[in-house]
Amino acid sequence: MLNFDFTEEQLMIRQAARDFAERELLPDVLERDEKGILATRQIKLLGELGFFGLMVDPKYSGVGMDTIAYILAIEEISRIDASVAVLMSVHNSLVNNPIEQFGTDAQKEQYLPKMATGENLGAFLLSEPEAGSDATMQRTQAIDMGDHYLVNGTKNWISNASCADIYLLIAQTNPEKRNKGINAIIVEKDTPGITLGPHEDKMGMRSSDTHSVMFMDVKVPKENRLGEDGEGFKIAMKILNSGRIGIASQALGIAMGAFDRAVQYARERKAFGKEIGHHQAIAFKISDMAVKIETAQLLLLKAGWLKDNHKEYTIAAAMAKQYCADIAMEVTTQAVQIHGGYGYVKEYHVERLMREAKLTQIYEGTSEIQKIIISRAILNE
Ligand code: CAA
Repeated sequence: MLNFDFTEEQLMIRQAARDFAERELLPDVLERDEKGILATRQIKLLGELGFFGLMVDPKYSGVGMDTIAYILAIEEISRIDASVAVLMSVHNSLVNNPIEQFGTDAQKEQYLPKMATGENLGAFLLSEPEAGSDATMQRTQAIDMGDHYLVNGTKNWISNASCADIYLLIAQTNPEKRNKGINAIIVEKDTPGITLGPHEDKMGMRSSDTHSVMFMDVKVPKENRLGEDGEGFKIAMKILNSGRIGIASQALGIAMGAFDRAVQYARERKAFGKEIGHHQAIAFKISDMAVKIETAQLLLLKAGWLKDNHKEYTIAAAMAKQYCADIAMEVTTQAVQIHGGYGYVKEYHVERLMREAKLTQIYEGTSEIQKIIISRAILNE
């Protein structure tokens, strides 16, 4: 049975996220983008409101909402400030979710309550200088020393690297076993031997906190491993399936934010004797943007629905990630075009949204990686 209605709880979460974004994030989003600074005060407030434990079981201090509510919340935050949304997405999808899904009771009890309330934030450490899309080529080593792992190596492009307290590290323990020798290990950031590279000065998502992370003889207790020995790559891939729903929501939220601004501008700006929205050149752009957003939303909600109903969602998540990211780029580019010269200056926000959209085609699996996942499934490779 098809049902396109949202539940009352889902609508409530969406409204709470929308109100929060407009009240707390909008006033200084341009300043944070310009200076590349973290929304520290707002992140604390988001934690108090439960947004860092949206899908976590209430017995671990979470809110216990479903993926659909999570999608709606990330969209609303991204409409205004996608840098805050990526922090939320990485924390919820790539750290809370695997601890809850693959962790022991002791790991869940130790880490989830503080993660769910935002007292502790999480980061996911997979990418390396020479292992980006080709994620099996992990060089960071977690050598089994009996009662602990000894970790050495470098991770790159780590979102939340400096504000996070808890790292979910993917590292190689048995290189001869290739992807079956990889482990996923919870590492507390203040463990001796961990240092950060400088803040990356990025094109967009400038107030998201991105660094490389270096490990030098870092000792991590063996009981911090998630799952069985050698299951880390599979866990990382499964985590990314869910992470891609988060990034698709972010991309779609960016597109929605640019669309809202383009529509408002098309209603107000006059040229050749009438509002530009009444010129077909602009009206048809608005129509095309609306169709793309609607299509993207349907794909994304289907992926969320499959996940919530415990059905296979790898392909749906890859399709949603690819399509939402690609249309975010198209919609934001058209929003800049509709604004003309005003679109090219910072005050009108759409150039920022266009810069933010670009990253959604790159991180958590490029659009090309999503096409590999989708085409392999179709061709049954
Ligand atoms: N779900 C579950 N399992 C999966 C999977 C998925 N989506 N993709 C692969 N696997 C499993 C395979 O079934 C296989 O298992 P077996 O060995 O038991 O058969 C194993 O993982 C290895 O898979 P492949 O042989 O397909 O591996 P591959 O080397 O050909 O490539 C890939 C797989 C899909 C290309 C993968 O490397 C990939 O997803 N790369 C992109 C990595 C990525 O997304 N990085 C993002 C970094 S995180 C980030 O950006 C966070 C942030 O800060 C915002």
